[in-house]
Amino acid sequence: MIIERTEDWVKERLAHDTTGHDWYHIDRVRKVAVMLAEKENADQQIVELAALLHDTIDDKIVANEQVAVEEVKKFLVEQGLPKPALYKVLAIIQTISFSKGQELSLLEAKIVQDADRLDAIGAIGIARTFQYSGARNQPIYDPTLSVRGQMTREEYRHGKSSAINHFYEKLLQLKDGLHTQTAKEVAEKRHALMEQFLDQFFLEWEGNA
Ligand code: ADP
Ligand code: NI
Repeated sequence: MIIERTEDWVKERLAHDTTGHDWYHIDRVRKVAVMLAEKENADQQIVELAALLHDTIDDKIVANEQVAVEEVKKFLVEQGLPKPALYKVLAIIQTISFSKGQELSLLEAKIVQDADRLDAIGAIGIARTFQYSGARNQPIYDPTLSVRGQMTREEYRHGKSSAINHFYEKLLQLKDGLHTQTAKEVAEKRHALMEQFLDQFFLEWEGNA
């Protein structure tokens, strides 16, 4: 089955990631994406394949995105995936990254992006943010670093920041960018938890809790 072979292929590639893109991130995104696809009447196979493959071309993980796209394409051709589905999957994984800020037209792309974004908020989102920050040698919080507003992709990736600033630079905005009604409903609780976490964090920071 193409789904199982894709799982194995992705596991091999992401097994050792410590930046928040490990296999269990992929598996959570896949499960939520399939659930959204059912509720929103989208093509399940395309959604599941794109969810499984969505981070294998990420420029945080691979040295060259274009080379990685070619590898995914070769893999899917070998699996005998029909051309229309293949091109949709490739289009989805190349357009959904937050940092690219692209408009999405395919429902299946919106669903995979929603699922990926849901995994960046809530309890898991908090955990991943601190893991990513540690992996990039960023502090938990540094009051001398101000929260950055609009920034270029380069600044977003390589400028100085902290785990706490990342909540204000990205995570608290994710809820409003979700596409599907189902994902918006799931996001409510996760968003509220991040707000509570930040309130408590600053109370403790000042020694007031
Ligand atoms: P992007 O959408 O920016 O490409 P990802 O969604 O791949 O980023 O990020 C993976 C995880 O790392 C997410 O949980 C995200 O919130 C977190 N992360 C990304 N950039 C930063 C950062 N600069 N500081 C802290 N956490 C980050
Ligand atoms: Ni992801």
